[in-house]
Amino acid sequence: MSNIESVLNEIRVFSPSPEFTRQANVSGMAGYEALRKAAEQDYPGFWAKLARETLLWKKPFTRSLDQSNAPFFKWFEDGELNVSYNCLDKHLATQPEKIAIIFEADDGKVSKVSYRELHGRVSQFANGLKSRGIRKGDRVIIYLPMSVEAVVAMQACARIGAIHSVVFGGFSAKSLHERIIDAQACAVITADAQMRGGKLMPLKSIVDDTLAMGGCESVHSVIVYRRAGCDVNWNDALDIWYHDLFNSQPTHCEPEWVSAEHPLFILYTSGSTGKPKGVQHSSGGYLLGTMLTMQWVFDYKPSDVFWCTADVGWVTGHSYVAYGPLAVGATQVMYEGIPTYPDAGRFWKMIQDHKVTTFYTAPTAIRSLIKLGSDLPGQYDLSSLRLLGTVGEPINPEAWMWYYNTVGQARCPIVDTWWQTETGCHMIAPLPGAVPTKPGSCTLPIPGIQVAVVDETGEEVGKKHGGSLVITKPFPSQIRTIWGDPDRFRKNYFPEEMRGYYLAGDSAHRDEDGYIWIMGRNDDVLKVSGHRLGTMEIESALVANPLVAEAAVVGRPHEIKGESIVAFVVLRGARPADPAKARQIVESLRDWVSKEIGPIAKPEEIRFGDNLPKTRSGKIMRRLLRTIANGEEITQDVSTLENPTILEQLKEAIL
Ligand code: WT7
Repeated sequence: MSNIESVLNEIRVFSPSPEFTRQANVSGMAGYEALRKAAEQDYPGFWAKLARETLLWKKPFTRSLDQSNAPFFKWFEDGELNVSYNCLDKHLATQPEKIAIIFEADDGKVSKVSYRELHGRVSQFANGLKSRGIRKGDRVIIYLPMSVEAVVAMQACARIGAIHSVVFGGFSAKSLHERIIDAQACAVITADAQMRGGKLMPLKSIVDDTLAMGGCESVHSVIVYRRAGCDVNWNDALDIWYHDLFNSQPTHCEPEWVSAEHPLFILYTSGSTGKPKGVQHSSGGYLLGTMLTMQWVFDYKPSDVFWCTADVGWVTGHSYVAYGPLAVGATQVMYEGIPTYPDAGRFWKMIQDHKVTTFYTAPTAIRSLIKLGSDLPGQYDLSSLRLLGTVGEPINPEAWMWYYNTVGQARCPIVDTWWQTETGCHMIAPLPGAVPTKPGSCTLPIPGIQVAVVDETGEEVGKKHGGSLVITKPFPSQIRTIWGDPDRFRKNYFPEEMRGYYLAGDSAHRDEDGYIWIMGRNDDVLKVSGHRLGTMEIESALVANPLVAEAAVVGRPHEIKGESIVAFVVLRGARPADPAKARQIVESLRDWVSKEIGPIAKPEEIRFGDNLPKTRSGKIMRRLLRTIANGEEITQDVSTLENPTILEQLKEAIL
């Protein structure tokens, strides 16, 4: 691990302008240092004060951090609150007519929802859920496109204390099935179809296929939002239209007051085994984290128009679409479609049309928009922008510079935010009116968060040395457990050798200024277009195909996607000698993975071998496969390899 070398040598530094610093919520390095010091002096007291000032409590808490059962930490546990109350009811007295959501549909149709209307719709839908017998603690799967209805569904669950688990609309029936069963969900909220890039993609039929797979007896309701108006199959015993559930209900629903530790949601994410992990988040600590980072990192002002482009199916869409912006009372833009429809100017046009001030997107989107039209931003009026952000994967300095100069017109700080599904909110990110930025670095931890770069024994490595990124102290917004698998939670995130630190799974190094540079995952997790995928998950999907005996999946650097998927496959029976036949099998396997997991997991390339490179003890040598996938010369020691001749076969791409 200690020989992970820094690959970047970036020396440009961008300080915020004096005007930005003057108006910032946290102003100058002195402001940042003051917050950090406060956290150092009295750690539980720091968070308790913020929790009292930031959240509305039905019953105040008396204890801040409880670490008696580490690593199952508890925050503000005897306090009671309701997340939906904190996001909606709170604003009714002060700004009921303020627009909460500006929704732009795939076809460009715009609808606006005020806080008063959103509160009414959430309350109605919450009453609707209760009418189906859904109660506090019940699990509800949300399988919806980007829509106001998705936010309403999430907030309505929060309102009644039901635990939602949003499944990204791009996941397959198989993935949905796995999640329904693991969560033992009682209801699925879906749509007839979703519209993306002018295309209609069915969702309800995928839910039908999922339930037909069997084992989903826990599901008693399938609630269907009519988005596209297409035909759907109907099962009277289970199915109910969203509008039918909704329209007859009163617009008042008393919130369910829950402990700060009550689970707000479960979100499945990939790990280093074949089975996704149900990351369980709390109510109080989680909401606190999203609100503080809205203030600190996004420098939120009431006049802002905030736009986070993430889908609600990912954690970014939870923290910075469904919860954070509403909790601080922001006006936000939500977009149903894709960045390239009808052309690669869509984002820039939307920023112009809605006068967006704060724009938050993924490096992969930035890279693809550079490729498809690097001069397009110049055709729109982007003068409303004041802050830019990125998330999900490292951003290469060239893309950062383009974002800074061409989109932000050298006026807007960029916040490169490092965090994870498990952390709930930003962990390492510049406070834009304080911390100078360097292209490609997520800079310094937010106040209260303490990180370190360590070796395999948990010992801190020096500056400019690579190592594992850890968070050394518990923090309010962190994962509470893996749903139904506390053992896996402990082993995965708090392995013994790490001295009680939270192990992030990323490698990183610090530069001479203490800035953090993320170097990518150091477990079997890939980041493909910012989406997190386990190599084991893709391998399990491949070996489930009757043609496949064995498979190994690795990542390969990709200009736009960050990483792409390369699979090495041993077929049952001989390797196809005929190239046309080989190509046909490759296509059928790619489609298979798409059906098993979802289109995002489709391997870019598949190669065949009579065997995989293994050590004498039978371990697949993935490092070798990565070298081969990259088309690089093999310089590693192959003397421990059981079957060295296999390497020549695997070098052959199927064209
Ligand atoms: C992994 C977490 C964070 C919400 C969306 C992704 C990578 C995330 C950055 C960044 C470099 C980053 C890490 C991390 N990552 N943000 N700013 N710079 N890498 O959440 O799907 O749970 O993935 O994304 O590898 O561990 P996620």
